Amino acid sequence: MKHLLKLLDLSTDEIIDILNLADQLKYEQKHGIPHNILKGMTLGMIFQKASTRTRVSFETGMYQLGGHALFLSSKELQIGRGEPVQDTARVLSRYLNGIMIRTFEQSEVENLAEYGSIPIINGLTDFCHPCQVLADLQTIREYKNKLDGLKFCYIGDGNNMANSLTVGCLKVGMSVSLACPEGYHPDPQVLEFAKAYDNFKLVADPKEAAADADVLYTDVWASMGQEGEAEKRKIAFKGYQINDDVMSVAKSDAMVLHCLPAHREEEITAKVFEQHAADIFDEAENRLHAQKAVMVRLMAPEK
Ligand code: CP
Ligand code: NVA
Repeated sequence: MKHLLKLLDLSTDEIIDILNLADQLKYEQKHGIPHNILKGMTLGMIFQKASTRTRVSFETGMYQLGGHALFLSSKELQIGRGEPVQDTARVLSRYLNGIMIRTFEQSEVENLAEYGSIPIINGLTDFCHPCQVLADLQTIREYKNKLDGLKFCYIGDGNNMANSLTVGCLKVGMSVSLACPEGYHPDPQVLEFAKAYDNFKLVADPKEAAADADVLYTDVWASMGQEGEAEKRKIAFKGYQINDDVMSVAKSDAMVLHCLPAHREEEITAKVFEQHAADIFDEAENRLHAQKAVMVRLMAPEK
């Protein structure tokens, strides 16, 4: 594994290896066992969109691994004034040991990887959010002690989260049921991938998708960059909500996850959110551990 651009590029073994290392690093951090695996290394973090979790977990994670992280807002980089990503990649490769980038176009992340000579980590694009899903899988395995054979249900927009969750969950042996309204289905590339799995289902009815689910997941109706469509989307997504009615058909011990930020009473009710706050904030914490594992595998592959 040279980069983390999208989960489609990873084998099941690579995903499981990251989850195992994430568990180990979490244990070490909780027990005060130092792991300065990336001592003297620097990660550049390019942000073209807002972030709370991704920024803080990468920066803290890099520090805990003995390295340093640089926050690079695209507004302040020359990239914001039109310097090509190809040139930015070649310059930053001379200074840094890795780059995490959050941006709009997936092609920008792929270009960084093509032109740069250091590991590139996708910290969210319009197409996918692989770091989030690695943390999600780590959390699910912590709660359920397995991944293979579980039923995963996603309700809402067929967006970057739906894309990465579909690929990640199928690759680790879970069955996946998505409920998305017409016109808001996942990316065709993801549907093409999922077609080969007979445990994948895309339906319109949230309760049909949620039946007997072990894990329920949702995300905002309007993602970053779609603020102008928020009102239209409120109409299109009405009913695509995790609420008591949906929970009543899931397994009685089902967990509920949300990548956050959450919009209460839109994609999830405040009641269900608070009932599952432990799951959701463990999930947020695991961004730290899962991303540390990704950085170790990419930036110190020999360790
Ligand atoms: N879930 C997630 O990526 O959160 P941020 O947008 O706060 O980084
Ligand atoms: N779909 C959301 C995820 C945020 C972590 C967005 O792209 O804004």
